[in-house]
Amino acid sequence: MITEIFILALVLFIYRTLFRKKEPSRLPSGPRSLPLLGNMLDMKRNGHLKLSEWAEEYGPLYTVRIGMKPALVVSDTKLLKELFGHAASTGKFKTDTIFELTKGAYGVVSTEGELWHEQRQFLIRTLINFGFGKPTMEPIILSDVQEAIDWIKKDVAEQGTVEIFNVFKSGVTNALWCIVSGDRQTKDDHTFSLLIDAFVDSIQNSVKSGLFFLSWLKTIAPEASGYNWLVKTTDDLHDYVGKLFDKHRESFTPGSPRDVIDCYLEKLHTTTDPKSTFYGDNGKKNALATIIEIFEAGLVTSSHTLNWLTLYLTHHQDVQAKLHAEIDRVVGRNRDPSLQDKAKMPYTEAVILETLRITSLVPLGVMHELLYDIDFHGYRLPKGLLLVPNMYHVHHDKKIWGDPENFRPERFLEEDESKLIRSDSIIRNSVLAFQMGQRKCLGEPLAKDVLFLYVSKIFQNLHASPDPSSPKPNFEYDDGIVLIANKFRVVMDSR
Ligand code: HEM
Repeated sequence: MITEIFILALVLFIYRTLFRKKEPSRLPSGPRSLPLLGNMLDMKRNGHLKLSEWAEEYGPLYTVRIGMKPALVVSDTKLLKELFGHAASTGKFKTDTIFELTKGAYGVVSTEGELWHEQRQFLIRTLINFGFGKPTMEPIILSDVQEAIDWIKKDVAEQGTVEIFNVFKSGVTNALWCIVSGDRQTKDDHTFSLLIDAFVDSIQNSVKSGLFFLSWLKTIAPEASGYNWLVKTTDDLHDYVGKLFDKHRESFTPGSPRDVIDCYLEKLHTTTDPKSTFYGDNGKKNALATIIEIFEAGLVTSSHTLNWLTLYLTHHQDVQAKLHAEIDRVVGRNRDPSLQDKAKMPYTEAVILETLRITSLVPLGVMHELLYDIDFHGYRLPKGLLLVPNMYHVHHDKKIWGDPENFRPERFLEEDESKLIRSDSIIRNSVLAFQMGQRKCLGEPLAKDVLFLYVSKIFQNLHASPDPSSPKPNFEYDDGIVLIANKFRVVMDSR
């Protein structure tokens, strides 16, 4: 009997050892972390550089801790596309600080599930109605670029140099303002622009102080962590946009929307289902949050990309000369560039792609959170896991680019430089500035049109060279959610 039991136990043991489904370990390993703070101290300044360094040490998938929460850092093009393309990855990193920006779980950027889906779809449809991807937007943007050129010429005539960022900021604000409220910004009214500046500064500061990730800092250090400042700038902006919204309501005629705000008014007006995210008071809160997000997400990104691009061209005269030559050949000097020229201007496109790559403006993208458990490359990723897209690392990975530190648009061209390399090549696929998957930036088409029209028209008319009082290239930046080039001035001569 004992022998039989022994044999049975042995058979069971062998069977389980051979045929038991192996439980995948939950998370890949990563750097050691501190209780409560996790890896936040290591990532306090230039976190993107630290995460890139760790990607070399721990590989394309590793775990860090944001405070107490585990976060999977993904540093490879294919893995990023696969993971962020999964429906489970459409959740969002949620903290009280993030919800402070939208006054609760409202809008598109910080929401998830049905609320996010309904609001995102409506926003995309509305933006398309008012110009996205349509030829009607082109003359509006071109007229903003003309104003920018006049402003630059005036500043250069009076002061010798121009702080170009202000010019881009004003132009992009106008384009977005025009879509949102059907109007142009009054040139001398800087109220909105100042509110946005303060709002962005306070968000950048909250990333540096750690408040953005560790909301409990607001309780122990509301002033030092920048919480009070963040609340003030957010309140001011919500106040301003709220008044704009109410003013629009006075002149709104149901059935004939003039702009994005009218579309929201119409939708709120016609929604009778209490379960809808457009119903009642919550509907209005979603509308206000989304309108602010259009500026928050669209203005800073587009204007700082143009700013960086000018800085790179100023210090890479050879690239600027090739850009000038292509614009002269395809567009000439006697007409405005048009989006239809794009297909014939691969060098201009390559300059834009190279700028998006090398600057990695949003170096770690926007963090997502897993909505449910999934298996991924041998790991069991749990619900609630934070996902960090390490786009900066991909954009600077020697294995992909060879010489990532060099600004070299030619890398995006075929050998004879007559056209862009294939869109399915690893190089083209690894420009991830707009992130990837179902939450990918919905402003990408507008941003790409704005970048193309600005670059082609500005450099059709002007030549950028360094400010003689600080001729050395300075590519240093302020880090936060976005990497902001240090202020600089340039000489911009008429061609
Ligand atoms: C160079 C310009 C731009 C860059 C680099 C950029 C980058 C990004 C990134 C990295 C995200 C995060 C996506 C994610 O969570 O997966 C994002 C989201 C978003 N962007 Fe952009 N963006 C740009 C321009 C714009 C413009 C012009 C608009 C507005 C019209 C815009 C509106 C949005 C919105 C609403 C979201 C949230 C999408 C969602 O969560 O579903 N962006 N953008």
